[in-house]
Amino acid sequence: MTSKSVLPDRVRPAAEQPLIRPGVDRTSIGALVRKFYSRVRKDKRLGPIFAREIVGDWEPHLEKMTDFWCSVILKSGVYQGRPVPAHLKLKDVTEADFEIWLALFRETAAEPFAPETSVVFVERAQRIAASLKLAMFFRLDRTAPADSQ
Ligand code: HEM
Repeated sequence: MTSKSVLPDRVRPAAEQPLIRPGVDRTSIGALVRKFYSRVRKDKRLGPIFAREIVGDWEPHLEKMTDFWCSVILKSGVYQGRPVPAHLKLKDVTEADFEIWLALFRETAAEPFAPETSVVFVERAQRIAASLKLAMFFRLDRTAPADSQ
């Protein structure tokens, strides 16, 4: 018998479901990833950040990101990495850079997919971006009032 959560159903968040729609598969997700990173690499702010970190062959990064998005969208489970440490080491990235990243992602996801599909990609990207930003930038001493102990 499996162990049951002690949380009552109404407070347990619903698990995200795989997005099952025609045309949403590893091929179209891989094409989106490639188009997105070709834009990121040309962006005047994000391009140099990625160029410093990914030197030489981009293919392994593009395959890893395709695995990541297949896991996020199709729930395929193929991505086994850890995004937080990969971003914590990027010392020159700011919160504003995430807005640039998300704007490029929104624009790229809108091209191959219908709006009701691209909105799912964008919502999941925003949620993950929010948790990466928390990991990278949240400091208790920045949010607490100056005179509190
Ligand atoms: C300004 C925003 C961002 C910047 C500058 C950035 C930059 C990078 C860089 C340079 C890497 C490669 C690190 C390495 O290979 O050592 C990376 C990896 C990665 N990024 Fe981002 N990223 C950003 C936002 C995001 C967002 C919003 C997501 C998800 C929606 C994301 C998902 C990932 C994933 C899954 C990896 C691979 C981590 C691993 O398993 O090694 N990134 N990012």
